[in-house]
Amino acid sequence: MALVKKDKYNVAIVGATGVVGQTFIKVLEEYKFPVGEVRLLASARSKGKVIHCFNRDIVVDEVNEDAFKGMDISLFSAGGEVSLKWAPIASKYTLVIDNSSAFRMDPKCPLVVPEVNPKDITKEGIIANPNCTTIQSIIPVKALDDKFKVVRINYTSYQAVSGAGMKGINDLKNTRIGEAPQFFPYNISKTVIPHIDTFLDNGYTKEEMKMVNETRKILHKPSLAVSATCVRVPIENSHAVSIAIELEKEFTIDEVRDVLSNYPGIVVKDDPKNNIYPVTDYSNGNDLVYVGRIRKDLSVKNGLLIYCVADNIRKGAAANAVQIAKYLIEEIL
Ligand code: A2P
Repeated sequence: MALVKKDKYNVAIVGATGVVGQTFIKVLEEYKFPVGEVRLLASARSKGKVIHCFNRDIVVDEVNEDAFKGMDISLFSAGGEVSLKWAPIASKYTLVIDNSSAFRMDPKCPLVVPEVNPKDITKEGIIANPNCTTIQSIIPVKALDDKFKVVRINYTSYQAVSGAGMKGINDLKNTRIGEAPQFFPYNISKTVIPHIDTFLDNGYTKEEMKMVNETRKILHKPSLAVSATCVRVPIENSHAVSIAIELEKEFTIDEVRDVLSNYPGIVVKDDPKNNIYPVTDYSNGNDLVYVGRIRKDLSVKNGLLIYCVADNIRKGAAANAVQIAKYLIEEIL
């Protein structure tokens, strides 16, 4: 159902007990989003659990169709299978913003980062939230594309364990105290792992192809040359991405710094002589993308290297979704 302008919006949160679900709540509270009734939904395991938020105690329910009736917005982050089953049902009653990968490449579903393609936001249906690494990368990429036209991108990511949810965080904590890995294929406390999500026949992982395909969709450039290598690293939170970009137009580093500094959502941290570059100390707990290590790629004409860090659970997931809803109610309705 199409969202209409109201004083307060009733919100259903699917996956409310998870890492991203809990952050949906935190961000809605911090942003003072005009929330009316709230329904918290998860699996049967969490039914009956009480969560205190929005100045009230809310009892978690198992996802069910009736729970979406009377709601205005549904925020989903309970994995692809739950979204595939329940997001179409929820969209009969509410606008859905889905953090899973289930609908990202569906041509009927916009894939949105508010700083980049807010005009794609719709009032109804399912809006997909991009992959965490795509979100933080596409913001500086779009800033550069607007000014210098991006012709080729090669991403390398360094991704925190929180991107894999509670299971990922627990595996890092437990392997640090000597337990055997339960989730990652190797002991994440002792190695970086160049393997996120499953491998495909082309030798890339699904995570890597998400970065490729989502970049093209968000920029509306279906044949843009993009490739990616995604690596899990032994830190709890905030992803880093090294981005090699080939630009059509010539540029100076000062021009690039200027373009990035003036783009919404970006903070430039680039003073290497004083050890200033993007680190998780900056990004953890907020919704900005920190960009630095800005330099010419010595291997190709008009090549640029940049490095960015962002909180993968906030800007890479929950905050981006809430910002989509905020943009919709403030700028579109
Ligand atoms: P639950 O806590 O009841 O298992 P994370 O990625 O941080 O592990 O969080 C996953 C979220 O998705 C949790 O809220 C989890 O609920 C929820 N979830 C997992 N499987 C289902 C399911 N089959 N139906 C509804 N929610 C689910």
